[in-house]
Amino acid sequence: MYQELIRPILDQVGHSEEMHSFVRDSLLQNIQEIPGVLTALRHVIGIRERFTHPNLAVTFNGIDLENPTILAAGWDKNGTAVAAEHALGFGAIVVGGVLKNPQEGNPKPRQWASGPHSVNFIGLWSQGVDVVEQNLIRYQESNIPIIANIANNHDVTPQAAPQAFAEVAKRLSPYVRAFEICICPNRDETLPFMEYAVARDIGQAVKEQVGVKAVYLKTLPDMNTAQLLDFIKAVEDGGLQGFVASNTTKRTDIKNSYQFSKGRPGGYSGPDQRYRASVLSQIAFLRRESDRNITILGVGGIQTGFDAILAIGAGANAIEGNTGMRAQGLAYPDKLNRSLARIVGPGSRVSDYVGIDRTCYPNPPRPE
Ligand SMILES: Cc1cc2nc3c(=O)[nH]c(=O)nc-3n(C[C@H](O)[C@H](O)[C@H](O)COP(=O)(O)O)c2cc1C
Repeated sequence: MYQELIRPILDQVGHSEEMHSFVRDSLLQNIQEIPGVLTALRHVIGIRERFTHPNLAVTFNGIDLENPTILAAGWDKNGTAVAAEHALGFGAIVVGGVLKNPQEGNPKPRQWASGPHSVNFIGLWSQGVDVVEQNLIRYQESNIPIIANIANNHDVTPQAAPQAFAEVAKRLSPYVRAFEICICPNRDETLPFMEYAVARDIGQAVKEQVGVKAVYLKTLPDMNTAQLLDFIKAVEDGGLQGFVASNTTKRTDIKNSYQFSKGRPGGYSGPDQRYRASVLSQIAFLRRESDRNITILGVGGIQTGFDAILAIGAGANAIEGNTGMRAQGLAYPDKLNRSLARIVGPGSRVSDYVGIDRTCYPNPPRPE
């Protein structure tokens, strides 16, 4: 019903960011506090109970997840609706990007969607770490696996970035299982943050604050092989645990092939085959080229169980999704998990598939 009825209405109404905020803050955040209402909502969207299956359980860096389907960064930037998101079926929730200080991001409108596709040019909007910390305190007793995606305010220079990232990590460490370091694709000053020494120093500074907790570096899907090799070295030398691959793509050939996103600034996310191909080849490359037993969280265009198993086969230990919530509605994690459990089948586990297809993918593009 969502895809046939509600999503076309959302396409007509537009205001993608406002719709998203309404669902997260007015619907999920408010009802998660009222006993029984969340269960009622689940019934309305066709989820009788949270789906579990033994073949979906995954473990990486000491983190046990009931299933490998993680809500990706950007859906719940300030951690307002974590309990409700978990109840929908996600194995873990990424909160953020969290910044040290509140920041508005780019002027609106800055998020557009059509069908299963999305483009955003938010440029990091955050209420700041003080607010996020207060939000996360509420889930401390719940045992919900939370990962913090952290980034820097726009006025922070690459030299000052390690300290800025470290401060946010220190504040959130008591409430989360792991960290993602986000280098925002939607800002002019992104390039210096992608350099080996800057990424390594940010990683090292965060790691020093969070001890045994895992820290992952998030990649951009348009990175070439030289830039990816720099990131691999940064992860190894910085003592990090792996990668989140990948963020939104700025490729104009992809954005210009959809009416709604033609000429828009910002990054595309969703099931475009060219985008998914670049994410898969990047995951496989990272899995092939990293010499340690690193963790990879695969993200980009993963909206179905089949998309998920492809990413896992390429080398991902678990997968994340954001635009799938727009594409499939609130039943997204439930549908994905049920389908993935069927694909994996009895007698094997998701983790048996990690990286089995890593040699089947071509390398990402070389530097020009
Ligand atoms: C509206 C929106 C906001 C996002 N904000 C962040 C962010 O703050 N930090 C980050 O690392 N990624 C952010 N992302 C990227 C997603 O986490 C994910 O990498 C990307 O959307 C690809 O996954 P998908 O195709 O499942 O959406 C954002 C994506 C969207 C659509």
